[in-house]
Amino acid sequence: MTKEITITASAKVNLFLHVTGKRADGYHLLDSLVAFADYGDLIKTEESDKISLDIIGEHAASLSGFPIEENLVWKAAIALQNYAAKPLGAKITLEKRLPVASGIGGGSADAAAVILALVKLWKLDISEHKLSVIALSLGSDVPVCLYGKPALMRGIGEEIIPISLDKPYIVIVNPNIPLATADIFRESDFKPLLRSDDNKEIRQFSSKNLTIENGYRNDLENTAIKQLPVIANIIASIKETKGCFLARMSGSGATCFGLYDDKVMAQKAAEELKNQYPQAWCINSVI
Ligand code: C5P
Repeated sequence: MTKEITITASAKVNLFLHVTGKRADGYHLLDSLVAFADYGDLIKTEESDKISLDIIGEHAASLSGFPIEENLVWKAAIALQNYAAKPLGAKITLEKRLPVASGIGGGSADAAAVILALVKLWKLDISEHKLSVIALSLGSDVPVCLYGKPALMRGIGEEIIPISLDKPYIVIVNPNIPLATADIFRESDFKPLLRSDDNKEIRQFSSKNLTIENGYRNDLENTAIKQLPVIANIIASIKETKGCFLARMSGSGATCFGLYDDKVMAQKAAEELKNQYPQAWCINSVI
């Protein structure tokens, strides 16, 4: 029987995202609380004599114009094959259930999931350090996606600090319009760069406390709203839904989320938001 390993590439949500500096190479230093929804793309790997990648599912069409070699899943598989220095193969299937270029780390989560699946399929003996170096070389969100649990992400993504977090229900809304991360960073004005080192020692977070009044925010939100004003409407609409205690944008957008204590209220909010924004992609889950 062919060996097969399937891993969920969970949607990443930045509950807050503070830009704390800029490196000489132009990359921005971040302080961000990242959590993962119980929903994501699916990565299936099967034994094969060469690497292949098929993309299927709800959002596969968004990737059809791009060469397969540009997909992070492909790049991750090749990076791991290079590390192994053997002509290892795998038939990889990516079921794209998350919208692309949307600030919930779809591509990064896919890359992390394929790394985890191939390490098992190929029975590679590889250190955690080496894995995180490969992960970071693929994108700044890939190391935290590899970790896969609530964490503070610092530096440009290489510093992962495990934290404890409650498990609120979440509604995630994306207008189905892609935003390019590089453009949002480039067009944002972070002067004076906002420091958030005061919370350096905090390892226990309550999602209820992550309010703007307590100084938590997404520093990319204003630039994303300038490019795509509907983001402000979506955040306002999420805030208005019954039971929502926090509404914000994730990553570089355009995905927005709302947090809820109550599962039924989150389900109802998702239904209302789907009616209000019929073109949007909307799910409810738990983080
Ligand atoms: O790492 P990733 O491929 O997601 O980043 C896309 C682009 O976003 C980078 O090329 C860079 O221009 C910008 N970026 C940044 N600072 C970060 C992450 C990304 O300036 N911490």
